[in-house]
Amino acid sequence: MAKNVLETPKVGPEQIENLFEDAYLGLRKFFLLKYCLQYNVFELLEKPKTFEEIAVWFEEQGFKPNNNLLESILDALIQFGLVKVYHTSYNSENVVYKSTEIAKTYLSPNSEFSKIDSLAPFFTYGERANRWINLEETLKSGELKTEEGSFFPDIIKRMAIDCRAGELKLTIDYLKHFEDIKNAKSILDVAGGHGLYGIALSYLNEDSKCKVFDLPEVCEETKKYIEEYGSDRVSTVAGNFFTDNFIDTLDDSNSEGYDLIFSSYNPGGKNPAVIDKICEATALNGIFANKQAFPENIGKKYATKKAFDGIDWNMFSFTGTKKEKVCYTFENSLTLDGYVSYLEEKGFEILGIFSVEDKKSLNSDKNHHHAVKKHHYSNIKTGNHIVVAKKIRE
Ligand SMILES: C[S@@+](CC[C@H](N)C(=O)[O-])C[C@H]1O[C@@H](n2cnc3c(N)ncnc32)[C@H](O)[C@@H]1O
Repeated sequence: MAKNVLETPKVGPEQIENLFEDAYLGLRKFFLLKYCLQYNVFELLEKPKTFEEIAVWFEEQGFKPNNNLLESILDALIQFGLVKVYHTSYNSENVVYKSTEIAKTYLSPNSEFSKIDSLAPFFTYGERANRWINLEETLKSGELKTEEGSFFPDIIKRMAIDCRAGELKLTIDYLKHFEDIKNAKSILDVAGGHGLYGIALSYLNEDSKCKVFDLPEVCEETKKYIEEYGSDRVSTVAGNFFTDNFIDTLDDSNSEGYDLIFSSYNPGGKNPAVIDKICEATALNGIFANKQAFPENIGKKYATKKAFDGIDWNMFSFTGTKKEKVCYTFENSLTLDGYVSYLEEKGFEILGIFSVEDKKSLNSDKNHHHAVKKHHYSNIKTGNHIVVAKKIRE
């Protein structure tokens, strides 16, 4: 039978077309941002520049003059909200280009809050982006083995920048509502990395002392932050929470345990064996406050991101810490519900659960199980929560 020219497939092509269109748009966005960061475009535009001045700069960098192309690049940056364009006076045809406040704050290398090192995948996750570009090679060569002692000293520099942009203050603002936290005199920041959480917690009580526990290589970096922020009540303890015990870090001033053990995004923070050691080192009536990613709470809206983060996560492995398949989970990691139950079994009372992303407390009704369940269905992107628990029984 002859083919019918009017015959169409059962499903339209739009989904496939959009998929490729979105992917190509993402690719172009990525490379344009990479270029801009590499050539410090947002620093260049900290002061307003005319198009002619930008064109001169462009040529000086060794790029072939092409005003239409340059103008298109600037248009794309305006669409991103990173550059703005405006007339300098009512009677002038001339416009100038300037970095927006957000670009100046986070994307200029001069800014105290510059996120360049933490955001730009090519600078910081160089290997990660390259692994995507050479995906075929990556899949052939197997996952990249990463030594914790060399990986974390770099990561914590990025995390210090990230948390100073807001999460550090948000966390402390939440924690300081708890009297027991405000009154804590002996504090341990487990896997504290840069130590900024420990430093900020020590501000809450001027009689407090805080120890930041981390791997020896990381503690060398922590000391620099302690010095930078002039925190003479904060010190470091080098160790490995898989092989060392926190009770061995107690001293004469708190031989019964810490008043407060805090931990943030600690790879062992959801591991029962590490939690056991934390419980053991918490004083009776002391607090354990733990901020963790619980990815099972990530909402449907972010399912694609979660799937892709999962690919990244499984492209590398640590030498000492065994990972699970789901991003930010390690061997034996507990879910949020499992974590809460585990702490209760260990003699802790849950005082608070806080969704970092929503900036809200989930258990104001004191029924945290119910609150957490209800929360599962909301539009959660990261699943990051702080759980505050008090040791009420030995
Ligand atoms: C993701 S960073 C979190 C840093 C900081 N707490 C924050 O939230 O910004 C994880 C930290 O855990 C530390 N860490 C990883 N494995 C460890 C281990 N086995 N013993 C002690 N610290 C460890 C790392 O060195 C790093 O500082």
